[in-house]
Amino acid sequence: MQDPVPRSKENNMSAQAFWDRQAIKYAKKPIADLTAYEEKLQRIRSVLRPTDRILEIGCGTGGTARKIATGVAHVTATDLSAEMIRIARSRSDEFTAKKIEILQAEASQEVSGYPFDAICAFSLLHLVDDIPNVLDAVYRQVKPGGLFLSKTVCLKDSSRWIQVIVRMLVSLRIAPKVVCISRAELTRHLISAGFEIDQTVYFDKKRMSPFIIARRPAD
Ligand SMILES: C[S@@+](CC[C@H](N)C(=O)[O-])C[C@H]1O[C@@H](n2cnc3c(N)ncnc32)[C@H](O)[C@@H]1O
Repeated sequence: MQDPVPRSKENNMSAQAFWDRQAIKYAKKPIADLTAYEEKLQRIRSVLRPTDRILEIGCGTGGTARKIATGVAHVTATDLSAEMIRIARSRSDEFTAKKIEILQAEASQEVSGYPFDAICAFSLLHLVDDIPNVLDAVYRQVKPGGLFLSKTVCLKDSSRWIQVIVRMLVSLRIAPKVVCISRAELTRHLISAGFEIDQTVYFDKKRMSPFIIARRPAD
């Protein structure tokens, strides 16, 4: 008998329920490593232009989208969680309301307004069910010559102990379901999707979350 709910849809529903439950707590949580965050922002700003139209997928409560918006023409910020979106919208002021459109959408969904000059995904790819599917959607929605900026946890590059602890937290539903991927595997997925890798740097001391700038080749 056919599964009444396709597997990925079912997983997205439970991911959404998890992040809906976490949203208020997540919104109050201070940034864990402020220096690394500022370095990441600086790097993002150094490659984006004032005329750029950006898509950020998995935007959470929109903190980074608001920071990016000051240096570009427009940001479309999307997230799977209705609660994250509600909080992101509630934090919008007059300036950001003009520059940011906030929408509820799954990461592999096409969003109106594409092609974008750059697409961002921060702390997201290790959470999605099907990374190649998301990367294909990103590739389709970014302009030829445009950028994909990603920073995500590569759990396979961490110690066995960290992996065991994360698995335990996931089974206790304290942490969301995490894909155990290495930087080398993520890089291969990006290349298979058609991207070229411009930069890979680490801002975190543990070197667990590579910040990757990938480029869709120009036509
Ligand atoms: C760890 S938070 C990161 C939020 C934000 N990007 C940041 O850096 O602060 C992960 C976010 O990804 C969202 N998310 C998880 N799975 C998703 C999916 N399949 N599609 C879109 N968003 C997703 C969650 O709702 C959550 O807001």
